[in-house]
Amino acid sequence: MKKGVLSIDYSFALKDLNRFGMGISHRDLKAGLALGAKKNKELFLERVSGSAGFYSLPYFEKETRKISRFAASLRRRFDTLVVLGIGGSALGTSAVMGALPERTRRKGGRVLVLDNVDPDAFEKAVATLDLKSTVFNVISKSGSTSETLSQFFVVTGLLKRKVGDRWKEHIIVTTDPEKGLLRNLAGKYGFLSFPVPPSVGGRFSVLSPVGLLPLAFAGVNVGSLLEGARYMDGINLGTEKEANPVVLLAAIYAHFMEDTRKNTFVLFAYSDFFVKLSDWFCQLWGESLGKEKKEGGRIDSIGQTPVGVIGVTAQHSQLQLYMEGPDDKVYTFIGPGKFRKDYSIKPLKKDESVLFLSGKKMADLFRAEMDATIYSLASKGRPVIVIEPHVRNEFAIGALIFLFECVTALTGKLLGVNPFDQPGVEYGKKLTRAMLGDKMSIKFLEDIEEFRKVRGRCEINLEAN
Ligand code: PA5
Repeated sequence: MKKGVLSIDYSFALKDLNRFGMGISHRDLKAGLALGAKKNKELFLERVSGSAGFYSLPYFEKETRKISRFAASLRRRFDTLVVLGIGGSALGTSAVMGALPERTRRKGGRVLVLDNVDPDAFEKAVATLDLKSTVFNVISKSGSTSETLSQFFVVTGLLKRKVGDRWKEHIIVTTDPEKGLLRNLAGKYGFLSFPVPPSVGGRFSVLSPVGLLPLAFAGVNVGSLLEGARYMDGINLGTEKEANPVVLLAAIYAHFMEDTRKNTFVLFAYSDFFVKLSDWFCQLWGESLGKEKKEGGRIDSIGQTPVGVIGVTAQHSQLQLYMEGPDDKVYTFIGPGKFRKDYSIKPLKKDESVLFLSGKKMADLFRAEMDATIYSLASKGRPVIVIEPHVRNEFAIGALIFLFECVTALTGKLLGVNPFDQPGVEYGKKLTRAMLGDKMSIKFLEDIEEFRKVRGRCEINLEAN
């Protein structure tokens, strides 16, 4: 497998090279790198204790080989695997599958990820399934998420009707090794099950059985995915300061977030294959860093709103805002790497206005569009960082994913927040449960009563004419 290069260009984030001097100065970068290196060492200690268990995932090679073998045996019996899960239990699988070219999964089975409880969409997806040859992978670290449990209970009803007593063979559970309702049900009904290491948070779990089992079923070479992640970990562990991409990126991002209050992180991904990767990243960045920081009785709201857009398409919808709207954003481009297929452009008429396209390839245009957008933003002094895996295969995607995870964790540490919890999400989960009558969440009913007092509402009768 070709390993290629993963390049990071941060020229337009540097003060010296930024047209209006609005980048990070050498002095600030040096200070950020020194602090980053120190915090990175602290995170290293959290690998073994605490909640930074995701760092160890690339080293579960034996378990991963088992998962691959198991997935191969599953494919002999089922042609489709459906993931039932939400947030960190679903996005990573979609991200990796989406980023890899179809041909890498030639031998794979069909994988569907159902990460919502929109009944119409659920019905549409279920209608495409032959339940006799479908296995459902119910994934929930906590084992108690209402959306996932509801999907699961609906599916058990469908399976019982279609396959009778053998319905249990169509369920595989991925959850905490000991705790939670899902673990309990796995024991009671004898479902096949996989563990989510307790020290690994949902959005950091794609390289655990959460992502590995469905990905292996889809035909992804999960061994190479982990190999890429291990390689990136080696670089993170063995490289000093500026040469360390994790420390470098975290120092730059923390600077723009904290010192210059850039409140939006735009991920401009230049490939249709990166739509889901961008969704995954937005969760990782948003949920890990969007936190209340309490200091001396004051609450500081930290974080950046992640916005994922796809190039070149978004040039014709968002770029105007990025060029002339508020200068409150930092831009990260993900380059497409090498294309596998290309087309020659032959204009129908030798017209001066399209002559420049003559003899060019579609990929030439794509690359020119990306560079033109980077330079356009640079012309306005907007900070731009370009990250590009030069090949799009499991090794490179594994390295890229692990890079993003390490950068997110370290940026959290630099900002003084806990990147591994999500109290805001938990509150929403409890309100949902209270609304549906969960006795254990009863104390939230008062909040709900308060919110339900209608103060401003307007209804437009669409049947009036
Ligand atoms: O990153 C996280 O922790 C969350 O997005 C969770 O993945 C999400 O809420 C689903 O939780 P669970 O896996 O416990 O069902």
